[in-house]
Amino acid sequence: MADSKIKRIGVLTSGGDAPGMNAAIRAVVRSGLYHGLEVYGIRRGYEGLLDGEINQMNNHSVSNIINRGGTVLLTARSKEFSTPEGVARAKGMAEIFRLDALVVIGGDGSFRGARDLHRLGLPVIGIPATIDNDIGCSDYTIGYDTAMNTVKEAIDRIKDTASSHERCSVVEVMGRNAGYIAINCGIAGGAEACIVPEKHFDVDEDVIKPILSCRNAGKHHYIIINAEGVGGTLELAEQIQQKTGVKTTTTILGHQQRGGSPTVRDRVAASLFGAKATELLAAGISGRVVAMRGESVIDLDIEEALSMTKTMDEGLIETGKILSLY
Ligand code: F6P
Repeated sequence: MADSKIKRIGVLTSGGDAPGMNAAIRAVVRSGLYHGLEVYGIRRGYEGLLDGEINQMNNHSVSNIINRGGTVLLTARSKEFSTPEGVARAKGMAEIFRLDALVVIGGDGSFRGARDLHRLGLPVIGIPATIDNDIGCSDYTIGYDTAMNTVKEAIDRIKDTASSHERCSVVEVMGRNAGYIAINCGIAGGAEACIVPEKHFDVDEDVIKPILSCRNAGKHHYIIINAEGVGGTLELAEQIQQKTGVKTTTTILGHQQRGGSPTVRDRVAASLFGAKATELLAAGISGRVVAMRGESVIDLDIEEALSMTKTMDEGLIETGKILSLY
């Protein structure tokens, strides 16, 4: 082990939960102990840090959680922590518990909080976890694959009944302002059209015409995926029904997309991220976000990480359109 001043670390999950967060907690605890660190679990994210809900963890505390969705540490979105006073008080609480560093498992908002703590002198490492896959610095975020598989299964089921009743189904999926779940699940679910916030769409051109040409070619069901960042799902369904005459239903998949046992991809990504986080801290390195670049785990400066944005590959949208032709 390198000579580092970091001996006691805290770990928390923050923001919306994501399947695989438990695998990340487990990895932080087990690899932290391997590196000779003491690991403390902070409950309810930054809210729990402010309240001093901090308990030491051991190998046993994380047994049998790698397969579980949600987060055993619980999570929250803290109002108080979003103020400079809140951040200062949280830093003070970390000092009371003599935490030398913090591992934050969450999305961009959680990383901004981590960055603020780092600026005040508390060493931090961020681990990207959100079903939205919308973190600029990382090609992959924990929870994304599980959420997409959940959506894919829902689309398959909805398609069965839409087909039997010769209906159109508009399915709204999560993703906040990003359309990654929508576009990939649109392709995987064989949707007739997929609407994402990243690309301007025209209802007649991009939704009504494809439905009518599919109908004229003999198709009996029409699946339209709408990203929550686009919104207007109910209105869209009304327009489709009114303009095409095809009975149109809506399904807003909602929070089921955040639950469930994590897939292999999420368990492995979370495990690698967690192990990398403690490897850095044990070497005295902090102020970093661990991230996936292709298939490799890298780490980068947290300020730089927060300044990065992600752009959707337009080819994906075009390919989705081509494959929906009937
Ligand atoms: O960021 C994850 C996410 O599930 C988004 O896809 C969604 O917009 C948001 O969180 C919902 O948040 P809440 O659980 O607070 O309703």
